Amino acid sequence: MTAPGFPRRAGSAGALAGPEPELLRRRAEQALRTARDRTRALTGCVDDHDLTAQHSPLMSPLVWDLAHIGNQEEQWLLRAVGGLDALRPEIDSVYDAFEHPRAERPALPLLPPAEARRYVADVRGRALDVLERSPLRGAPLVDAGFAFGMIAQHEQQHDETMLITHQLRRGPAVLTAPEPPSDPGAGLLPTEVLVPAGPFTMGTSTEPWALDNERPAHRRLLPAFFIDTVPVGNGAYLRFIEDGGYREPRWWTEAGWDHVRRHDLSAPLFWRREGGQWLRRRFGVTEPVPMGEPVLHVSWYEADAYARWAGRRLPTEAEWEKAARYDPESDRSRRYPWGDADPAPEHANLGQRHLRPAPVGSYPDGASPLGVRQLIGDVWEWTASDFLPYPGFAAFPYREYSEVFFGGTYKVLRGGSFGVDPVACRGTFRNWDLPIRRQIFSGFRTARDPEDA
Ligand code: AVJ
Ligand code: FE
Repeated sequence: MTAPGFPRRAGSAGALAGPEPELLRRRAEQALRTARDRTRALTGCVDDHDLTAQHSPLMSPLVWDLAHIGNQEEQWLLRAVGGLDALRPEIDSVYDAFEHPRAERPALPLLPPAEARRYVADVRGRALDVLERSPLRGAPLVDAGFAFGMIAQHEQQHDETMLITHQLRRGPAVLTAPEPPSDPGAGLLPTEVLVPAGPFTMGTSTEPWALDNERPAHRRLLPAFFIDTVPVGNGAYLRFIEDGGYREPRWWTEAGWDHVRRHDLSAPLFWRREGGQWLRRRFGVTEPVPMGEPVLHVSWYEADAYARWAGRRLPTEAEWEKAARYDPESDRSRRYPWGDADPAPEHANLGQRHLRPAPVGSYPDGASPLGVRQLIGDVWEWTASDFLPYPGFAAFPYREYSEVFFGGTYKVLRGGSFGVDPVACRGTFRNWDLPIRRQIFSGFRTARDPEDA
């Protein structure tokens, strides 16, 4: 059941012939439970003071994210899908991200931690009842369990946001995780891969839980290009720093140079030079910058300047997706670089299993058919592209997810970081942020045109 007036969804071929409703139901339930386990871990490891404090003006208090997660779930799963009345209509505006910018949120009448926990648990109990009753077909909002998948993704997106808040938080470490794996053969990889010219299918009309901005599938024709086999590493980035990259206007766009001067930037966020050594702070621990790891916490301006310094450029969003999804042998776009199988631990560094990117060249089992590695997981990768709608885009189910951000203000990031769950990460998934942002888990790889182009 869905309220009248929800916009139609682009690229939905009517009733989806897909998995059985029972299988979908269990998949949706599992996705919601996985998200909640992570939310509880991220909000259960600090005391009430830390939950209500603002650790950076860039972020909300953790307890705002917590109740906002519950409020979105209430609005979509209880009210829109379940037809239930509002549990607490008076709090909707407090948790509306558009009414209150992050810097203002600590001053709002937020639910205190214990109350926020009761609220999200209450909403979840009712949402699972709605899930048991829903036919999961017959309306775009519930077809293939879409609303449940959307809400699981929303919670996981805020779980990544909360992980960023933990990274910004001062004080001793409260999060720990095992080290990610590395591939001993990584040193032998070619530095770049040629992606041949030709058309490919970008976006999707069939992935059941793909969000509106990933739709519909459409053809794109690209000239041949080279793309880095692995993300740019800290060692390579350090050469840019030591070559005076932050002091040389010719590597930067005008806006980038202005930003770097104004804020006196000279290295990625969380880096600090002490004596002859570069150190970084990571989740409360200060450690030497690991030179073999993908660079993290750089803005689009820094990624773009590095690429120009290296005689290269950022890949466009379409180039990134072709490198990640196109299989020359079958002439088909796949769900992930490794094929159509859901992500498993051997494919990619996702889901906060590790609290850092794996060394460059890791995850041989996650490589694309052309041999490009770590496209999914480790670090979000800045692309050259502005965040724009695909041809045939239709906002669904609400304009404020994507549509209000389209235009020239935001740059697209692709691929997902170690901090994002597989449910909110795939070959078609699009993330976006302002070109100045670098508290996010952002890195990049570079590309170039062939010489004879
Ligand atoms: C897609 C990550 C840019 O966090 O602002 C969360 C996701 N949208 N709640 C964001 C989102 C609404 C969004 N990003
Ligand atoms: Fe949100």
